[in-house]
Amino acid sequence: MPTLTRRDWLHTAALGSLAALWHTPQSLVAQPTPFTNPQSLIRLNANENPYSPSAHVQQALIDAFAKVSRYPYLERPVLRQHLAEKFGLSPQHVLDTVGSTEGLKIAGLVLGGSTGSILAAQPTFLAMLSFAQKFGSYIDFVPLGSELVHDLDAMEKRLTHQTQLVFVCNPNNPTGTLLPADELEAFCRRVAQRCYVFVDEAYIDYVTQANYPSMVKLVKEGLNVIVARTFSKVYGLAGLRVGYLLARPDIIERLATHQVERPNQLGIAAALAALQDEAFYHYSLEQNEKVKRYIYELLDELGRRYVRSHANFVFFHTGRDIDEVVSFMQAEGLWVGRPFPPLRDWCRVSLGTFEQMERFAAALRKMYA
Ligand SMILES: Cc1ncc(COP(=O)(O)O)c(C=O)c1O
Repeated sequence: MPTLTRRDWLHTAALGSLAALWHTPQSLVAQPTPFTNPQSLIRLNANENPYSPSAHVQQALIDAFAKVSRYPYLERPVLRQHLAEKFGLSPQHVLDTVGSTEGLKIAGLVLGGSTGSILAAQPTFLAMLSFAQKFGSYIDFVPLGSELVHDLDAMEKRLTHQTQLVFVCNPNNPTGTLLPADELEAFCRRVAQRCYVFVDEAYIDYVTQANYPSMVKLVKEGLNVIVARTFSKVYGLAGLRVGYLLARPDIIERLATHQVERPNQLGIAAALAALQDEAFYHYSLEQNEKVKRYIYELLDELGRRYVRSHANFVFFHTGRDIDEVVSFMQAEGLWVGRPFPPLRDWCRVSLGTFEQMERFAAALRKMYA
């Protein structure tokens, strides 16, 4: 009997799901993502959208297959045009990137400077920082304040002549905290007179506060501010790797020269379709809010401290080392977030489907039983 290696299995599984994509007549209602990792763990560790893209986006992907023999010379400007219109900017203000991770890395490399420093909160999202560090940037970490919110005063006091770039993740990963808009805006205005300010808005769609502003308004004014956005979260396209930066055209031009790769035909087609797909967008947000309330209730019941989240994950105090928590959860079939030093006795759990969170709830109750 032929044996199936793990590699064969992965290949077969991938082809199987591609075939399913091609043949299954889907309703417009989003379906829970069937894919878990090879060990069948439920993935609550990477802040992914638990729902597959809607039939609308799936159809756009199928249609785009006909174009995959072509480089996306013509399609990239279309995406940039759509994004420019969405934000009231020009296409020259937009750089489409391979996930926002590519934009974060380019900005860290180009603006962070090999002889300068980047100022950032700790803990925060590290993609830019660890990359820039490899090229010689010094990362000046400022601990989060008492409520695990960015301490903007302390950050501003830490600015030196060496500081070339300030990184602000808002809402912050891993804490899910949101800065008061007026304080962030005033901070960006002052700091952008001295160096670049990079605001990572990967989770801003999840913010429910009415009229909460994006720092894109400062890009519009021509300040030294760069904003990063992604199609990986609320739009549910993490596997297709599409993100973008919004900044003044001269900054975009500088960053573009350092791009290593570009978004591809399928990613661009899906992103364009996702921008039109309001039903999926709102469905994702509604489900996220429902599941978040359920997790708050669970953590209240178990007497755990947690941070009110403005994103698709919740950060809670475990009272034990995160490695121990991760191992326990893996044994229960769940994959939760990694260590975020120095907060090693906290855990970040991404918000999955309701059924997945019921599994998480059962495991957490067992852990504290
Ligand atoms: C704050 C933040 N920024 C950016 C990213 C990167 O997302 P992507 O490269 O998929 O756009 C993530 C992913 O988890 C994130 O948490």
